[in-house]
Amino acid sequence: MSIWPMDATGSDEDEDAHELGDPALRGAEVSEPGAVTIIIPTFNEAGNVGELLRRLTESVPSRLPCEVVFVDDSTDDTPAVIAAAAQDCPFPVAVIHRDEPLGGLGGAVVEGLRTAGSDWVVVMDADLQHPPALVPELVAAGESTNADLVVASRYIAGGSRAGLAGGYRIAVSRGATWLTKALFPRRLRGISDPMSGFFAIRRSVVTADALKPLGYKILLELAVRCRPSEVAEVPFVFQDRFAGESKSSAKEGMRFLRHLVELRTASPVARMLVFGLIGLSGFVPNLLALHALNNAGMHYLPAEILANQAGVAWNFLLIELLLFRSRRGHRHWADRVGRFALIANADLVLRIPLIALFVGEWGMGVLTATVAALLLTFVLRFAGTEALVYLPRRNRSGRNNRDRKVA
Ligand code: GDD
Ligand code: MN
Repeated sequence: MSIWPMDATGSDEDEDAHELGDPALRGAEVSEPGAVTIIIPTFNEAGNVGELLRRLTESVPSRLPCEVVFVDDSTDDTPAVIAAAAQDCPFPVAVIHRDEPLGGLGGAVVEGLRTAGSDWVVVMDADLQHPPALVPELVAAGESTNADLVVASRYIAGGSRAGLAGGYRIAVSRGATWLTKALFPRRLRGISDPMSGFFAIRRSVVTADALKPLGYKILLELAVRCRPSEVAEVPFVFQDRFAGESKSSAKEGMRFLRHLVELRTASPVARMLVFGLIGLSGFVPNLLALHALNNAGMHYLPAEILANQAGVAWNFLLIELLLFRSRRGHRHWADRVGRFALIANADLVLRIPLIALFVGEWGMGVLTATVAALLLTFVLRFAGTEALVYLPRRNRSGRNNRDRKVA
């Protein structure tokens, strides 16, 4: 029996995490090929970890060599309870305690992935909602089908979401699954339960540095950014929580929506599309303001200019909240407002001479010229906004890391 260095007292956690992260230091403890590293994120799960390790001991090592890595953000005595329970385990158990819970559950799993030395990694919750007995089956399914990712699914024959408490949770989970599948039809092909937190993945397909986890949905993050080529599924029954309470909340729900937007707008083409949709929605406040100002008796020319600012303000807010949320940190908000407004208004000023050029010099029809000018200024406005307002300044190392931080 070997137990990895653990910090039950909480005094030098960082050093421990470091030690595990360096393969050279782990020496003889590197697992055999075909073995599995089980990564378990924990946040105040003192009432569950003992039973979890007992059930893992019952069901896993005789069928599959394993090591267990807890990545812990607890404020209770979970690490100490793990340390005590690990004494009875026939496999290595490690705890990485993080001082700062960056990225929440997903960030914890990525931290664990960095340290994993086995061919296979299984990610599961600590509260026994994910049956430990299924761990060997997930890996076996991957080996037999040659899949890179095996998802334990509640939504295929033989699976169920029995432990999902209440109609509200079920409706939220259903809605989230539907929305996510609709947004990523190709990347999630073959995954009926992208919300699952129980899965096996080959270590070789995980590109930990490409990951920017945000909250709960780490499977979604891995499936979208690491693009495993073959995916398999194994049904499972989502159990009731063994002890303690769920940590998910409305705040976690908002984080999930932000995560979806970040994943969906990772490519410039997708970002431009969202930028365009937001721009289109800006016509509504623009026209409403124009209507109000006209009614108030203002001359239509100054009213046009003022009403345009309503559209600009609307666009700015949506772009800040949805599109470039993680890229706001490197410029003061007043600086961003100024630059954004300048680019948006320059767009108007530029359009008229462009149309004149297209019609007068190039002999285009008025309608074609207007459409061409609209498209051209739109692309310029997108590129300008991205480059001049939201581009991280690469020369200031460190500040870009704000991208990864959870607000
Ligand atoms: N390290 C760390 N940091 N662990 C966390 C954090 C965190 O900020 N938040 C939650 N956890 C751990 C919990 O301790 C638990 O082991 C696991 O992550 C899941 O948390 P729960 O609070 O039990 O989540 P849930 O039951 O609401 O959600 C589960 O079901 C979802 C599907 O409906 C999880 O399995 C999700 O991953 C899954 O998507
Ligand atoms: Mn749970």
